[in-house]
Amino acid sequence: MSDNDRRERWALILGSSSGFGAATAIALARDGYGIIGVHLDMRSGLAAAEEVRQTIEASGVPVVFHNVNAADEAKRHGVVEAIGRLFDERRAAGADPYLAVFLHSLAFGVTLSYITTDPARREVSQRQLEMTADVMAHSMVYWVRDLFHAGLFAKGSRIFAMTSEGAVKVVPTYGPVSAAKAALESHCRQLALELVPFGITVNAIRAGVADTRASRAIPGHEELFQYARERNPAGRLTTPEDVAEAIVALASPRLHWMTGNTIGVDGGELMGSKQAEG
Ligand SMILES: NC(=O)c1ccc[n+]([C@@H]2O[C@H](COP(=O)([O-])OP(=O)(O)OC[C@H]3O[C@@H](n4cnc5c(N)ncnc54)[C@H](O)[C@@H]3O)[C@@H](O)[C@H]2O)c1
Repeated sequence: MSDNDRRERWALILGSSSGFGAATAIALARDGYGIIGVHLDMRSGLAAAEEVRQTIEASGVPVVFHNVNAADEAKRHGVVEAIGRLFDERRAAGADPYLAVFLHSLAFGVTLSYITTDPARREVSQRQLEMTADVMAHSMVYWVRDLFHAGLFAKGSRIFAMTSEGAVKVVPTYGPVSAAKAALESHCRQLALELVPFGITVNAIRAGVADTRASRAIPGHEELFQYARERNPAGRLTTPEDVAEAIVALASPRLHWMTGNTIGVDGGELMGSKQAEG
């Protein structure tokens, strides 16, 4: 793909109203991408979502947000069809649009133990375990497949999914999300393999611990944040903006040969070890 590419770049962000998804949508908008966002917010979350949408709009690019459950098949079909109609309108206006970036950044997980002998605590149910895997991992496959068959991707499209160190490490009560992250990374490799013939790359982004709505919902998150600060060679948490900037760079046409990876964007947190105190 050359730098003379005159196609109209659009990004579809699942999880566009908060955290990594919101920061990436804003950063891509500032880089000139039209933005389509999918999020699931009610009441208090709606104002935050609208604020993100307005920030994107202020960049001067077109933006459409869909407040729907990304794990619902009918809603997914509705959004994919809406993007198809939007691209048809753009073509009628003489543009050549395509989905240059797709980001899966959904945070919707159950944090419960698999086994407990404490009657005051609940164990994760089958439904909760399956729902966490469905939203946080399997939905990636269904979205990418539908977008592909709708002809919305093209040569040079970049697909990303947010993962965490939890895919390979154990953290108390993080089991359901940990399993979903392992599946998500596996889905990324499989999709990367199957999309190579079409010039589409797929990579998982392993972000360091960041202070977001989702991470604040993890029981004991203050300890998790403190541990991450101590382990991170930079001595601080990752920010959504750190990751957003990396994704803008990774979307470059120059990175056409990078696919099927789990890429750390964590300031070296994974390799860090807790500093001795005193
Ligand atoms: N925060 C961290 O420390 C951290 C670290 C590594 C990876 N991650 C991963 O990054 C991703 C984003 O997490 P975040 O911390 O930015 O979370 P967040 O809570 O700030 O944002 C989550 C977004 O997902 C949307 N969402 C959730 N369920 C949805 C559904 N069913 N349908 C549509 N939209 C839905 C929300 O509306 C919101 O826009 C997650 O996959 C998370 O596991 C987070």
